[in-house]
Amino acid sequence: MLKNLVLGDDQLSLSINGGAASFDYFWLRDNARDPVSFDSRSHQRELFTALVDPAIRPCRGWVDDSSDSLVLEWPDLDVEAHYDAGFLADFAQAGDPMRLPDPRPWNAASLDPESVRLAFGDFCGEGGVPQLLERLLTHGFAVLTGTPRNLDAVQRVADSIGYVRHTIFGGLFEFEANEDMADSAYTPKELRPHTDGTYSHDAPGLQLLLCVDYEAEGGESIMVDGARIAADLKAAHPQVHDDLARIGVTGLYKGDGVVLRARRPILRHDETGRLAQVTFNNYDRDTVRLADDDMRALYAGIRAFDNMANDPTYQWRYTLAPGDMLVFDNWRVLHGRGAFRGRRKMAGAYLNREDFESCARHHGLA
Ligand SMILES: [Fe+2]
Repeated sequence: MLKNLVLGDDQLSLSINGGAASFDYFWLRDNARDPVSFDSRSHQRELFTALVDPAIRPCRGWVDDSSDSLVLEWPDLDVEAHYDAGFLADFAQAGDPMRLPDPRPWNAASLDPESVRLAFGDFCGEGGVPQLLERLLTHGFAVLTGTPRNLDAVQRVADSIGYVRHTIFGGLFEFEANEDMADSAYTPKELRPHTDGTYSHDAPGLQLLLCVDYEAEGGESIMVDGARIAADLKAAHPQVHDDLARIGVTGLYKGDGVVLRARRPILRHDETGRLAQVTFNNYDRDTVRLADDDMRALYAGIRAFDNMANDPTYQWRYTLAPGDMLVFDNWRVLHGRGAFRGRRKMAGAYLNREDFESCARHHGLA
């Protein structure tokens, strides 16, 4: 309910559902939802904002009680601009449209293993996709159980969220232990916790890993919450944390006819200070000579971070059974695998981060 409209010099004030709010005139002009300024079908702004008078103010304004909206007449617009109460309430305060639900950082002691499991049959049923997304947003990973052991199942999960990302490895992938491949993911040695695509400016957002066959000993999957390591470092070793948030680390993939290289801090924060991405892969870290102080600070950071990532108190370790599919947030959770002997066949895919976020918004979770 809109009331008490007062038109001031460069902003207006009013009450929205009993709460006081004010809006700058320029913001209101820029965000007018009339058909000349805004295409409501494409959600695109038609207004040429840079040409609007910086001192613009409405000629007239009033509250229309029948539609519970603010109506403004602008000097450069022939039609009235209507701002409904819900729209004004959404923007009554500064906000962050990129914000996702806060993660719940975990370690081995705090994670309830049952909370990450979801039966594939339930995933395919009504409301199954949001259930998977909730696990990903909260814990950074999920295990789909009883998944059909074929690429169609991987494709189906990927399509329910976004689409399979094509990389230098192709789209959908299958692999077994194979000493001939250049990448460390193909050996049966222990694979320490890492994130994928450190050499990509836009690292894969989600990874799907389906256990197709397992006739082996060992080879348990390892998940580590990078957000938890970041939080614990910040509390216990703030200087190390700040160095890891500051010093860019270069990832490299060289081979198979490509030389991919990208750089970002291990703990990347967005402009609001929120942890946006954890990037860590000691295997793929490029040889770089930094200034001596930064080099030493980076090594101290890697020592602290990687020792925590390899500490069992930070690790969820679990041997995937055939039909188990790990789905994890590659911008938050590190993954690894214990050494194994025998045969282990996996299938999987990458998805883009933006499609994961889009799917969460589409389902009303962000
Ligand atoms: Fe990996």
